[in-house]
This record gives sequence, C-alpha cells and structure tokens, in this order.
Amino acid sequence: MLKLLIDKLENENRLTKEEFAILIDNATEEDRQYLFSKARKIKERYFGNKIYIRGLIEFTNYCKNDCYYCGIRRSNKEAERYRLTKDDILSCCETGYSLGFRTFVLQGGEDPYFNDERMTDIVSSIKERYSDCALTLSLGERSYESYKALYEAGADRYLLRHETADSGHYSKLHPEEMLLSTRKEALYALKEIGYQVGTGFMVGSPYQTTEHICTDLEFIADFKPHMVGIGPFIPHHNTPFKDFKAGSVELTLLLIGIIRLMLPCCLIPATTALGTLAATGREMGVLAGANVVMPNLSPSTVRNKYLLYDNKICTGDEAAECRMCLERRMNSIGSVIAVDRGDSPLVTSSI
Ligand code: 5AD
Ligand code: FES
Repeated sequence: MLKLLIDKLENENRLTKEEFAILIDNATEEDRQYLFSKARKIKERYFGNKIYIRGLIEFTNYCKNDCYYCGIRRSNKEAERYRLTKDDILSCCETGYSLGFRTFVLQGGEDPYFNDERMTDIVSSIKERYSDCALTLSLGERSYESYKALYEAGADRYLLRHETADSGHYSKLHPEEMLLSTRKEALYALKEIGYQVGTGFMVGSPYQTTEHICTDLEFIADFKPHMVGIGPFIPHHNTPFKDFKAGSVELTLLLIGIIRLMLPCCLIPATTALGTLAATGREMGVLAGANVVMPNLSPSTVRNKYLLYDNKICTGDEAAECRMCLERRMNSIGSVIAVDRGDSPLVTSSI
C-alpha cells in the first residue's frame, strides 16, 4: 500500500523523484482510489462541484513547426489548411457567449500570418465586446515583446505545454531547431509578464519513461503554473510517430490525481484526447481531480481540419451540442458547469 506516500504528497505537495516513480509504477487499484478520493476532496475545497468551461476556437492550422507527434506539422502535406478571419473569430465568441462561455481560448499552430499587429487587433476587439470574459491564448512560442504586446492588448492567460521536461526526450519529439530551454524561457517570460500560465505534457509520448514523467512533475512543482493540461498521446497517421501506440488512460488519470495533490487550486482540464481514447474519459478525468472542460467553438466547416491526432471526438458536432452534451456528462457525475470566468484562486484571492 502506498497510502503513506499519497499522504505525504497531500501534506507536502511534492515527493522526491524516486517517490514519484514508486507511485507511478506501483499504484494498485486501491491506491488509485485513495488518491482520487483525496484529489476530489481537495478540488471541492477550492471549487465545490463546479467545472469550468472554456470555449476553444481553433483559428488556424497553419504551422511553421514540425513536431514529430502533431498532425498539423508543416510536413504534413495532406492537412487541409485554413485560417479564420477576425469576423469568423468574433462570431464564434458571439455563439459562445450566448451559450454561457465566459472564457475563450484562441488556439492555433505557429502561423506567421497572425503577427502581433493582427493578433493584438483580434485580442483587443474580443475584449472590447466581451469585457466580462477572460481570453486565453495558445499560440506557441513567440518573443517576450510579442507576449507583452498581447497581454497589454487584453489577453489574460496563456497555454504552452512544455511537452517533456527532459531535454534528451524533448529532442526525440521535436526537430533540432526546437529546444526545451527556449520553451522554458517562454514559460517564465509569460509568468513574469503577468499571464495566468498553463503548461503540461503528453502522457505516453514515444520514448517517454517513468523518469521523464518524474522530471515533468518536478518541473511543474517548481514552476507552479495556474493550469496544467495533460492528455494521452494519440498517433496521427501522417506523422513520423504514426506507428507508436497511444498513451494510457489509466496513467493519465493517475497523473491528474497526483497533480491535483501537488497544486490544490490548479485548473486542470479533462482533455479532448482523454475523451477520444475512452468514451467516458472526460468524466473519469473529473473524478480523478480535473475541473475544466474545453469544448470546441470552432465553426463546423473547419472542425474536421484541426486534427492533431486521429479519431478526435466532436468534429461533427455544433458548439451548442457539445455544450449540452458536456452539461449532461458533468451532471451525471454530480458536477455542475459554472458560468463565470473561472480564474485561478491564486490570482483572485491571497490563497
Ligand atoms: N496526441 C496527443 N496530444 C497531442 N498534442 C499534439 N499532438 C498530439 C498527439 N498526437 C498536444 C500537444 C500540444 C497540444 C495543443 O496538443 O501537447 O501542446
Ligand atoms: Fe462534443 Fe459531447 S462534447 S458532442
């Protein structure tokens, strides 16, 4: 029984790398349930039974990067590329607002077309019309000046997964022009500027070992992000990783529970990737300690083009359908969807 380790994690909010490894490699079903019930209790202390919804707008699938795992990498010539216009994006927000979304997430590949001039214009237009909403950006690596300009234009939060905190593993997932050090610098810059910052990694990415995951957990414990997104790796048929197997749902859930104990008031999404690998993946994610879901607000015409991995769910559904579907799913496990900005308690109070 690893109860003592789980108690230690709860009390001290971290373990040594060796202890993390023991927990990851040896947790029994009983240990998992013990961890998840603690994770739920901690979550309830800060958030009650509220689950925050973020409206995801996938506004461009052009990308100058070539990450080996990703379906919209520049070398995937079969990806049908699209860009939403500013008006398209604003109309997604309008639909989202009427469905009760108070956070919009603009996510895209690293698309040079969306330079600072275009991006700050979009950000300030959204914030002008929807001043009671939070705006999250997920645009990959940009310069300090660019992050600052976007923040000054009104962006509140930024999602940038570190993908793996081991530099050797990082170089197995990315071409050589991409470096873990650059990614980490970007994350520290975002925090310094004042964003609420999210990071995270894929579970079961090719070549990942338990030790790598322990390094990820250490990085997260040190960096103390406001949000942590983790989801299983899922192969995409047009990438160099097409023949690798998908990550494990069980391990993803265990890690959600561990991260909840490490960062009690963190915002943790039950990801679409988790929902893709298991029919009730997102519900299980919430029961393991997650407290955010991010349904898609992208127009149905482009939904099936933003494909980072195969078999992605919800690509044929309208925004309203996903919103209602998730409401039902959350209610079925005793949670309710919250209609407010859902800031991290770290920034709304002195916790
Ligand atoms: N499987 C699962 N997640 C993926 N991502 C990219 N490609 C895949 C894949 N094949 C994740 C990355 C990225 C986020 C937007 O999606 O972690 O940061
Ligand atoms: Fe999209 Fe269920 S969340 S259809």
